Amino acid sequence: MPLSFIVWALLLLRLSCSAESYGCDLYDPSNPCYTGGRVDSDLSPDPLPFSTRAYWMRRAIGALADINEGSPCPFAAFGAVIVNHTASEIGTAESQLGQEVCIGANSMARDGNPTLHGEIAAINNCSRILTDPDGPYKLSGPEALSALGDLSLYTTAEACPMCSSAIIYGGFREYIFSTSIPTLRSYDWPQIVIRSREIFSRSVGRLSAHRTRILGEVLANETEELFRWQFADGDCPRGCEKEGSGCVKSKNSDAGTRRDEL
Ligand SMILES: *[C@@H]1O[C@H](CO)[C@@H](O)[C@H](O)[C@H]1NC(C)=O
Ligand SMILES: *[C@@H]1O[C@H](CO)[C@@H](O)[C@H](O)[C@H]1NC(C)=O
Ligand SMILES: *[C@@H]1O[C@H](CO)[C@@H](O)[C@H](O)[C@H]1NC(C)=O
Ligand SMILES: [Zn+2]
Repeated sequence: MPLSFIVWALLLLRLSCSAESYGCDLYDPSNPCYTGGRVDSDLSPDPLPFSTRAYWMRRAIGALADINEGSPCPFAAFGAVIVNHTASEIGTAESQLGQEVCIGANSMARDGNPTLHGEIAAINNCSRILTDPDGPYKLSGPEALSALGDLSLYTTAEACPMCSSAIIYGGFREYIFSTSIPTLRSYDWPQIVIRSREIFSRSVGRLSAHRTRILGEVLANETEELFRWQFADGDCPRGCEKEGSGCVKSKNSDAGTRRDEL
């Protein structure tokens, strides 16, 4: 076996040498890997209107209240929605919005499962819904996997390396995030500081065949407040108030406003 081991070692070395983003400085916007190498980044114009993006980002925020006992301002305010936009770009006004396939929200504490970030929870939920024999789609496993290639994942914050990788393995058509990793860091959130675009640009072989459109910091002006208070003793998000060390939905204010705007 030593010979085949050497061949593998050489292959691996070749792969790592040809990864063009090797050693990039992710804080340097002039570095090509920062804006995403081969990925279809926001340098290409977004075919959908901002109002559509804002609608779905607000739905990702709304997923927080719909899951996990309904707090609109949980500690881990990572919510996601997965949308079918394939009819949107060509469609009429009604079809332009797209269709919700599933939502998800960070459920680590509820389920005792560290992988259940909002994005993974949403992907798990969509897989369950797409393959449910009594559901609207009734797809086989392979059909559900290829269906993900038509879908767009919206998330209230930039995906961590685990979730970015899951989005790549899913071959999603689009990935839209709101609050960025540097912003989360500036609020003291523990992070593995590798930007999503770097993970995408380092994906090679079959994985780089998908061209995922990445849109960053969409509606960040409405999601940043969800992450700003936890480590800074800051104000609760709009519609919420302090209770103990956490934030809860305000009893007397119009906490429902944001959801009603949907
Ligand atoms: C997405 O929409 C397209 C066009 O309406 C449809 O053909 C496709 O089956 C949909 N996929 C899913 C997973 O809903
Ligand atoms: C799964 O998504 C559906 C449709 O968006 C939603 O009604 C449901 O609450 C979600 N379930 C979980 C566990 O997130
Ligand atoms: C956030 O910014 C968008 C677009 O710039 C705007 O439409 C929206 O009203 C803003 N939200 C708030 C709460 O100011
Ligand atoms: Zn994650």
